[in-house]
Amino acid sequence: MSEPATLVTMELMGKEYRVPSGLTILAAIEYAGYKLVRGVGCRGGFCGACPTLYRREGSHRIFTALACQTLVEDGMCLVQMPFVPVPTKPYDLHSITPQPTTLLRFFPEIAGCVACNTCTRACPQGLPVMDYIQAALRGDIERVAMLSFDCIACGICSSRCPADIKHYAVGLLARRIYGKYLVPSSENLALRVSAIESGRYDAELRELMELPLAELRARYEQRSFEAVADQNGDYSATRRYNSPMDPVDYQDELEGV
Ligand code: SF4
Ligand code: SF4
Ligand code: FES
Repeated sequence: MSEPATLVTMELMGKEYRVPSGLTILAAIEYAGYKLVRGVGCRGGFCGACPTLYRREGSHRIFTALACQTLVEDGMCLVQMPFVPVPTKPYDLHSITPQPTTLLRFFPEIAGCVACNTCTRACPQGLPVMDYIQAALRGDIERVAMLSFDCIACGICSSRCPADIKHYAVGLLARRIYGKYLVPSSENLALRVSAIESGRYDAELRELMELPLAELRARYEQRSFEAVADQNGDYSATRRYNSPMDPVDYQDELEGV
């Protein structure tokens, strides 16, 4: 017989609930009887829909977390955060000229960063948020794009920033500019697009679209990935992921490798 789960006490919207330890905050809220109709999405730490504020027992500090990625603790006092909108000036990516002052022009508030590092400490993705804002201030668009690459736009950083900076919008614009203007054009991508446009895959695509769902699912599960041995192939993922432009280089830098 399995051991009975240990129960912990959490406080939600001012009311105490006993819930099994080992649940994520999201699961604990559901266990307490709430049906989540917003503030939840992927449940996998990717969509940024579930930011949560909480206090720990005996501490005055406010902590932030993604509810789908954080385990409930005894004495936790929880509040689900509403979505953090970050209104920005509208921009037309096609008419932007990438210059060192471009990000500052669209987000002049980044000049008010007081380097408190609150944004970095609050980020559930563990991103060096202050560093990418400082890079934006220096006009280093590529670095902003790389350091913000894993941002899930949860808005927790912006909700805590004393300078009212819209971090995820800054990172997003940098990545858009980087993708459109700065990253070297991909010969392989152009080849692949022209092969698709030439109709080379039309028959195969038609066949897939006409398959019964069960057969489609079976084929999906049996699909093969590009192997390391393919690295000199036309569209090799291995070759692409080893590109010097890959964010992994920046990750090494962050980890002091
Ligand atoms: S929280 Fe705001 S002011 Fe503080 S380091 Fe981050 S961007 Fe700068
Ligand atoms: S940088 Fe900000 S918006 Fe992006 S994941 Fe981190 S806390 Fe969320
Ligand atoms: S539900 Fe998507 S990040 Fe938590």
